[in-house]
Amino acid sequence: MAGMIFKRLAEELDGIIARDPAARSRFEVALTYPGFHAVMAHRLANYLWRNGFKTFGRVVSQIARWVTGIEIHPGARIGQRLFIDHGMGTVIGEMAIVGYDVTLYQGVTLGGILPSVNAAAQVGVKRHPTLESGAIVGAGAQVLGNITVGAGARVGAASVVLKDVPSGAAVVGNPGRVVMPKGSCREFNAYVIPTRDLPDPTARAIEGLLDQVSSLQARLRALEGELEEAKALSVTLNGALPGNATSEEPGLSPDSAAPWLKEASR
Ligand SMILES: CC(C)(COP(=O)(O)OP(=O)(O)OC[C@H]1O[C@@H](n2cnc3c(N)ncnc32)[C@H](O)[C@@H]1OP(=O)(O)O)[C@@H](O)C(=O)NCCC(=O)NCCS
Repeated sequence: MAGMIFKRLAEELDGIIARDPAARSRFEVALTYPGFHAVMAHRLANYLWRNGFKTFGRVVSQIARWVTGIEIHPGARIGQRLFIDHGMGTVIGEMAIVGYDVTLYQGVTLGGILPSVNAAAQVGVKRHPTLESGAIVGAGAQVLGNITVGAGARVGAASVVLKDVPSGAAVVGNPGRVVMPKGSCREFNAYVIPTRDLPDPTARAIEGLLDQVSSLQARLRALEGELEEAKALSVTLNGALPGNATSEEPGLSPDSAAPWLKEASR
C-alpha cells in the first residue's frame, strides 16, 4: 500500500518535472509547488466528499485554498498528473472533470456560465467543463459551461471559451476562436513558442488586404512610369514641331501635351 502511494506520488512529481522547465527535482517540487499541494489536498477532500463527509471535504478544500491560492471543489473529478503551474487564483468547479496529464496555469477558471441565476435548478447539474487528457489551459483563461476541451487541445492565455474545443485544436481570444485546426498542435511545449502559417481568419483577411495594397502600389508605379514616358515623348514631339512652334505656345507645352499622350498610351 505504502509502495503504491509512493509510486503515485512519484508519478505526479515526474509529470510536473516533465512540463516545467523550472522544476529541478522531485524534492523541490514536493516542497515548493502549490499546484502539487492543492492536488494532493484535493485527493483527500474528494475522498471525504465521496464518502459522505461533504462538509469535511469542503473544509480541507478551503484550507488548501488558504495555503495555495487554488480552489478545487471537493466534488470535482481530477485525473492523474494534473499540473497547476503557479496556480494562484485558479478555480475548479464542483462538476468539472479533468482528465490525465492536464496542465493549468494561474488564474484559470473552470466554472459555470451563470451560477447565480436560478441556482436551485443548477444543483447537481453538469454545469462545469470537461477537460480531456493532455489539454493545456493558459493563464487567466476562463472555460465556462458544460463544454468539452478535447484531448491535447490548448486554450490561450486570457481566452474566454464557451464552446467545445476539438481535440488537438488551439483556441485563443474572447470569445475563443480556433487558430489551429484539429490535430495540428505540436507536442507540449511549456511557455509555447509562436509559429506561422496558421488559418487564423483575421490574420488571413489582413493578409488579403496587404496583397491588394501591394498590387495597387505596383499598378501605381506602372502608371507613374507611363506618365513619365508620355512626358518625355511630348518633349520630343515639341522639339520636332516645325519652326515657330515652341513649348511656350498654348497647347504645345510638355505639361499640356501630357494628358492626350497619356490617353494614347493606354
Ligand atoms: C494558445 C497557445 C497555447 C498557442 O500556442 P502555439 O500553439 O505555439 O500557437 P502560436 O503562438 O503560434 O499562436 C497562434 C496564433 O494565435 C495567437 N495567439 C496565441 N496565443 C494567444 C492568446 N493567448 N490570445 C490571443 N491570441 C493568441 C498568436 O498571435 C498567433 O496568431 P497569428 O497567427 O496571427 O500570428 C499559447 O499562445 C498560449 O496562450 N499559451 C498559454 C501559456 C501560458 O499561459 N503561460 C503562462 C505561463 S506562467
